[in-house]
Amino acid sequence: MIDVSDLNPEKIKTSLKSSVIGSEILVFGEVASTNDLARDRLAKNSPEGLTVVADSQTRGRGRLGRAWRSAPGLGLYFSVLLRPRLDARRLPLLALMASVAVADAIGEFAGATKLKWPNDVLLNGKKTCGILAEYCKTESSEGVVVGIGVNVNHRLDQLPEEFRSAATSLFIENGEPVNRAEVLRSILERLDAEYRDFLSHGEELLVEKWTERTDMFGKQITVTRGPASFRGTAMGLDRSGNLAVLTEDGRRLSFESGEVTLNG
Ligand code: BTN
Repeated sequence: MIDVSDLNPEKIKTSLKSSVIGSEILVFGEVASTNDLARDRLAKNSPEGLTVVADSQTRGRGRLGRAWRSAPGLGLYFSVLLRPRLDARRLPLLALMASVAVADAIGEFAGATKLKWPNDVLLNGKKTCGILAEYCKTESSEGVVVGIGVNVNHRLDQLPEEFRSAATSLFIENGEPVNRAEVLRSILERLDAEYRDFLSHGEELLVEKWTERTDMFGKQITVTRGPASFRGTAMGLDRSGNLAVLTEDGRRLSFESGEVTLNG
């Protein structure tokens, strides 16, 4: 029997101060992917803010078609259902919005965080959280599922071997185990505030907040998109959340997606 007692939905809900996010909280042991469960609930007319949490995932998905390894008892794996009145092209902004919320929440538990485009949250330059926002449409409704994976209590040898030099966890950074429910509560509350702010003030304020939380602008980076890679200086985000890069041969490029590595 998997112990998900630290993720008790009633306890989380009672202490949660939010208006939309976490309107309903479902906690599971092992699932394929919380993003899939949240998407299924969209068809069943679940309320905006529905949050699906799992102790582990067998088919956790990451960005760019990658897998997101989701071992039991260690990380936070959850998805939030949103129903904003937004054009699907603005979807990347919701992932940026979530990364701002997670960066501030994690900062409470393990010290200063930084953001790396598009929506990785870093501690000491290493990834501790990934976000996958997916647009979903059924016959009767449409929405966005924002899936969030946080490395919480992993020791270094519990992180996938190939990521050990580039990933970390809250435990590795602060040396003490962290209560997953507390981290979840903090993320949901901040997500609630950021979501409302985004809906009422729009992308300019969001891009400003995101920019305040990164140190990648002005640095030399490589952006990889499939087989192609581009070296240049990271210049900033436009109001759609696209990354502007000035390449070494003087071209100004704008990326909607891709993988960024800091050079040197
Ligand atoms: C990334 O590649 O950085 C994004 C990772 C997103 C992982 C989370 S874990 C909860 C949710 N369910 C999934 O299948 N993926 C997201």
